[in-house]
Amino acid sequence: MADQGIVRGAAQVRILLMVTGGIAAYKSCFLTRLLVQAGFSVKVAMTESATRFVSPMTFQVLSGHPVATDLWGEDQSDALDHIEYARWSDLTVVAPATANTLAKAATGIADEIVSTLLLAQPGPVLMAPAMNDNMWRHPATQANVATLRERGVHLVGPGSGFLACGTVDEGRMLEPEEIVAAIKDLAVGLEPRPQPEALAIPTFWEGQQVLITAGPTHEAIDPVRYVANRSSGTMGYALAAEAVAQGAMVTLISGPVDLMPPRGLQSLVAVESGQDMAAAVGQGLQAGAQWLIMSAAVADFTPSNPATGKLKKEDLGTGWQLDMSRNPDILAEVVPAHRAEHLKVVGFALETEDVQARALGKLKAKNMDYVVANNPTEAGSGFGAENHRLQLLSSGGMIWASESRPKTELAKQLLVELARHQSR
Ligand code: CTP
Repeated sequence: MADQGIVRGAAQVRILLMVTGGIAAYKSCFLTRLLVQAGFSVKVAMTESATRFVSPMTFQVLSGHPVATDLWGEDQSDALDHIEYARWSDLTVVAPATANTLAKAATGIADEIVSTLLLAQPGPVLMAPAMNDNMWRHPATQANVATLRERGVHLVGPGSGFLACGTVDEGRMLEPEEIVAAIKDLAVGLEPRPQPEALAIPTFWEGQQVLITAGPTHEAIDPVRYVANRSSGTMGYALAAEAVAQGAMVTLISGPVDLMPPRGLQSLVAVESGQDMAAAVGQGLQAGAQWLIMSAAVADFTPSNPATGKLKKEDLGTGWQLDMSRNPDILAEVVPAHRAEHLKVVGFALETEDVQARALGKLKAKNMDYVVANNPTEAGSGFGAENHRLQLLSSGGMIWASESRPKTELAKQLLVELARHQSR
């Protein structure tokens, strides 16, 4: 249960927990768990030496967010992302804070991820020092502590007790429960930091209930044959993975595809036919979805009388006709029956000619809030192709036209564009 006062409406108090290289780093795992249990949103950054004591994966699992460990990732934009990471937080907690980290913070040295974030973040900071008793008492450390206190940094501890070096003295990091109590004292009454528009977007999807359909449908002719289309499901799966990564609660309704489901889904509903998909979407909407993203290529027609036993060619003769009937149109017929006021609907339109006008026609006809248009015959696009091109439109016209990019990148950007449009 989240504590009263810690959760601010829909948004939680955001804590950036910085872990530096001391044996007390293991206690910060428990600290992370306690903070998450108390209703805080926690992201973790670690120095390289901290990763020698505890694996970043442990913090990733406990916090539910990727852990920042390196200033220089594969591409240079990571450095900028890290600055945004620092600005994301309402409160920065350094636990354990080593003598070295205190010294760097006091003098403004920024030579690795934690010291850089400390310098880049403008909000309140709480530090929980942990070190050998002599290091703690050293005039250099005491001078650094005095400087930090003067600048308004909150220090909790160190306490006295058994130290890793074998002595019993001052220098021990406070217990996680004591640090949580200090954080709660600071967090109550903490004003939410104004988030510039660009920074509000990464949190837009946090906690949103998102229903995504993906893949083709298989329409049974008999128990072994079906009518289908060439959809691979890649776009819907990429959207689901990205929505999960951005903190959404995702239900993925998937037609038959050859893809690994993304990790972290709220649920995966595997369906075969358009009828099954229609039923699953109806249930998902009833369960309170806030977004429906219909990327599935639902078959428009289905065999009218699927055979219960396998059809034999001797019985069919030299030629035969398959009688097909219309499948339910999910957007046009199923969604209106369950449409809550808060629901936003994103449809897809696959068009080979007059793409924008036809996509907008579908948006109106099917009462979508947004339509994602794509043309598989265009260069840099297409079924099964690595790269793809998309256009995002609302009733007001074009919102965003992508370059030809891998579908995973398009999925990420599409969610950002939707968030940006909603946050306007
Ligand atoms: N869709 C749906 N139910 C169907 C068929 C399509 O909900 N039975 C949804 C798709 O998931 C997509 C949107 O409607 O989000 C548009 O799909 P598309 O196949 O491009 O258009 P159709 O309306 O089926 O028209 P056409 O095939 O004639 O272009």
